[in-house]
Amino acid sequence: MKQVIFAEFGGPEVLELVAAEEPHAGPGQVRIAVRAAGVNAVDWRIREGQILGGHAIALPSGVGLDAAGVVDEIGAGVDGIALGDHVFGVGSGTYAEFAVLSAWARMPEGLAFEEAAGYPSVVETALRVLDEVGVRPGQTLLVSGASGGVGSAVLQIARDRGIAVIAVGGAANQDYLRGLGAAATTYGDGWVERVREFGRVDAALDLAGSGVLRELADLVGDRRRVLTIADPNAAEFGVRFSGVAGSVPDALAAAVDLIRRGKLHIPVERTYTLAEAANAHIDSRAGHTRGRRVIVT
Ligand SMILES: NC(=O)c1ccc[n+]([C@@H]2O[C@H](COP(=O)([O-])OP(=O)(O)OC[C@H]3O[C@@H](n4cnc5c(N)ncnc54)[C@H](OP(=O)(O)O)[C@@H]3O)[C@@H](O)[C@H]2O)c1
Repeated sequence: MKQVIFAEFGGPEVLELVAAEEPHAGPGQVRIAVRAAGVNAVDWRIREGQILGGHAIALPSGVGLDAAGVVDEIGAGVDGIALGDHVFGVGSGTYAEFAVLSAWARMPEGLAFEEAAGYPSVVETALRVLDEVGVRPGQTLLVSGASGGVGSAVLQIARDRGIAVIAVGGAANQDYLRGLGAAATTYGDGWVERVREFGRVDAALDLAGSGVLRELADLVGDRRRVLTIADPNAAEFGVRFSGVAGSVPDALAAAVDLIRRGKLHIPVERTYTLAEAANAHIDSRAGHTRGRRVIVT
């Protein structure tokens, strides 16, 4: 099968499209014929050799965690799924024609593979940070880095829960953010004052890692209600860093429910072929993705 791998850590040029052995579903796993693989920042962070969660990566390594496709092998002990089912979920080496998933859910009717592949990790992250920051219905949440994958999910889940959102994003994304139900403003000079004009803020999320933790803490007035997923300097500012994934099956079930109710739609900014994986990483790393970037097989 065709698969994107890297044999050494480095820039996007270390990605290679090779002919690889097909993986097989072990106990508790399914294998899918991949139709689309979501591109997450963690994919290029791993490729660059940033050690995540203390786990060393064996080389050569496949790339990609999120995927959507058609079940074509079912491991021992797996119930409730049939060959040919359309699923989305999380596995490893998903930038490939076949990949093994360790967590999955059946795709809602009418959802395209390209869009489905963008949901698993961002919905898990969005649910986790909303719970960890402790924001309640009727309160106001400030979100910096609101227009990316995680931000798009956070805004829509917050709206579904009756949480008001003030979203900070790029100039080109203001209408997009308002369309997701948020009050929106731009980052850059004067952004703190612009946020203050919207009124009281009960909690804040930093999803971009753009060095704003002090300002977020000042705006909220309670450091325990500020959380970042992207700034390693959290401790210096007395705020929390969230980095340990929650339950992926629970997140997929929540995603299915939200999508079925028409409450969640994350747009695909651009699709790439497997041969274009390096471009997908370059574009993701540039840091201005609206929604998700996706690799299609
Ligand atoms: N710790 C964890 O568990 C965890 C989990 C998932 C992701 N992450 C990390 O969280 C980050 C976000 O993930 P993602 O998938 O949502 O990334 P993404 O899709 O690439 O989105 C990043 C967003 O950041 C915005 N941005 C760029 N510069 C900004 C600035 N100065 N102020 C405010 N916003 C700015 C961009 O908005 P504009 O286009 O509007 O400029 C872009 O939409 C990544 O660094 C990722 O590695 C961590």
